[in-house]
Amino acid sequence: MPEKTIESVSHEDRVFEPPPEFAKGAVIASRDQYESLYRHSIDDPEGFWREQAQAFHWFEPPKRILTWEPPFAKWFEGGTTNLAYNCLDRHLDGPLRNKAALIWEGEPGDQRVLTYYQLWREVCRFSNALAGLGIEPGDRVGIYMGMVPEAVIAMLACARIGAVHSVVFGGFASDAVRDRMNDASAKAVITQDGTWRRGSVVPLKEQVDRAVAECPSVEHVIVLRRTHNDITMTDGRDHDWHELVKDQKPVHQAPALDSEHPLFILYTSGSTGKPKGVLHTTAGYMVGTALTSKYVFDLRASDTYWCTADVGWITGHSYIVYGPLANGASAVIYEGAPNAPDPGRFWSIVERHGVTVFYTAPTAVRAFVKWGDEWVNKHDVSSLRLLGTVGEPINPEAWMWYRSVVGQDRCPIVDTYWQTETGSIILTPLPAALPTKPGSCSMPFFGISAKVLREDGSEAEPNEGGLLVVDKPWPSMLRTVWGDDERYKQQYFSRFEGKYFTGDSARRDTDGFFWVMGRIDDVVNVSGHRLGTAEIESSLVSHADVAEAAVVGIPDPLTGQALVAFVTLKGGVQHSAGLADTLKGHVGDDIGKFARPKSIRFADALPKTRSGKIMRRLLRDVAAGKEAHGDMTTLEDMSVLSALSGEDE
Ligand code: WT7
Repeated sequence: MPEKTIESVSHEDRVFEPPPEFAKGAVIASRDQYESLYRHSIDDPEGFWREQAQAFHWFEPPKRILTWEPPFAKWFEGGTTNLAYNCLDRHLDGPLRNKAALIWEGEPGDQRVLTYYQLWREVCRFSNALAGLGIEPGDRVGIYMGMVPEAVIAMLACARIGAVHSVVFGGFASDAVRDRMNDASAKAVITQDGTWRRGSVVPLKEQVDRAVAECPSVEHVIVLRRTHNDITMTDGRDHDWHELVKDQKPVHQAPALDSEHPLFILYTSGSTGKPKGVLHTTAGYMVGTALTSKYVFDLRASDTYWCTADVGWITGHSYIVYGPLANGASAVIYEGAPNAPDPGRFWSIVERHGVTVFYTAPTAVRAFVKWGDEWVNKHDVSSLRLLGTVGEPINPEAWMWYRSVVGQDRCPIVDTYWQTETGSIILTPLPAALPTKPGSCSMPFFGISAKVLREDGSEAEPNEGGLLVVDKPWPSMLRTVWGDDERYKQQYFSRFEGKYFTGDSARRDTDGFFWVMGRIDDVVNVSGHRLGTAEIESSLVSHADVAEAAVVGIPDPLTGQALVAFVTLKGGVQHSAGLADTLKGHVGDDIGKFARPKSIRFADALPKTRSGKIMRRLLRDVAAGKEAHGDMTTLEDMSVLSALSGEDE
């Protein structure tokens, strides 16, 4: 038996069958249906995707389904389509015309609903405005906004006219905006005066002014008034959104764009240096996000769907904007913080709008656990029928809490695994067709040939940890790193020639279910055991007093590496040396003595990326230097520091 790439120590074995009533009317209603469609998608990918593509509007149908010259893929060649047309115009002739497309709630409590017809008119107006400024197909346009309907309008208008949007999360500071605009040579930036966050104004325009002063390519800045804070407008460069659109015609002919027309760039941080501009193109991305939305969330016309992500992340692109709208769903959008004005805000939104499908991140679930059940119980959340998570491995205990407190033991949970690079969900349960296991992202989506490989490229045995790869192309995969084909090859296709390497470790259990064990950079080696930190963290979180945990390795003369665990406790629990010993013992009993953390450090909060992932890299530094300092205040400082510096990893 070859040396183990990575050892799995998880022994989670709870299984939940899909609730029978859920299968009634479900889009994919049985395991057999999943299996046969999956087999078809792998045995005859071109036939499968040709059939699936028929659900969309094409100006010219594709002539060729796939051209694969590893590592470069072209999907649906010869076809012409328009993503905005598929999200809007296509729905206007039927009963969706005046159905809610966006149900928006501002943090201060203001509300707006845009029907498909209204959204279409706004997108047409803004498309005409962009074209009027000389924005042409292929031009790059930055979008640096908060969670307002206009952010969606801006994205759809870019997609409509064939401009390539590059959305920058509103939590980033001016340097990040500057670097991203310069990397893509953006011609225009769309922003707003400010956005609301926990009752204060985050001044976005100010950041743009600072950024654009060093962006020679930017000719226009479009500014939406939202918070009415003081801003400076630069003559000739800056345009007021409302002034710009008010005389534009609310009709616009969507052009037929090539299937491989560049759709957007989204920057994602790498483990080293400068962020990568992940490029997605039109038709493959459309097909991937629309189909996953439909099948994974079992979306139907009667659903009110809410994804709590920000449009600044891929989750917002694929599962707030393009996927749901391509399916004619009604999507809720919320502007502000989950605890504004109190930790019950999300559940009050669920109640007020009768949300049926709710999609959030494990980091949010762990925050809800910490805040306590009462905030959920105060509200009527019985409209919910399906829950989802994305972004990190979810600790089984957090999963169980989500299921029982939010889902009232009734709603299936879809733990969806994917990446900025994959464009759409690649590993996931289908809620009526597959059982769920707490902490497992279940099975591959249609057309996804996922494998767990050893370092030497051979396939791992069931339950043997290894490297997660996708060894065949799929429609919504990234096409390249913007302006850097070499980095694209190096980063994703060099570990295993011609196969896409995710950068994550995983195992597949004896039922074929995938368990993601975390980033390969986060593997620790203790006394010859190579362990993924996620499993040790889940063991800690399974203790009744623990809300959240992050485990890192520090050099150790005896064991190679020793484990340091950073732990936040549930509301009302006091930390103590006794509790630290109890937690070490708990991991020892649960996993084995070798996995016992050498030290436990209690913290009020863990440093996170701006999308909510724990910054283990930062914690590794803190853990290594901690001996010298002594208390946990540095950690809080670190999180504030990193928040200020605009670093996201
Ligand atoms: C990385 C991608 C794609 C949505 C948001 C994050 C981790 C994502 C899961 C999951 C375990 C997950 C992986 C992946 N991840 N979803 N369900 N279970 N890990 O996008 O910022 O590109 O991050 O997030 O490590 O590689 P992203």
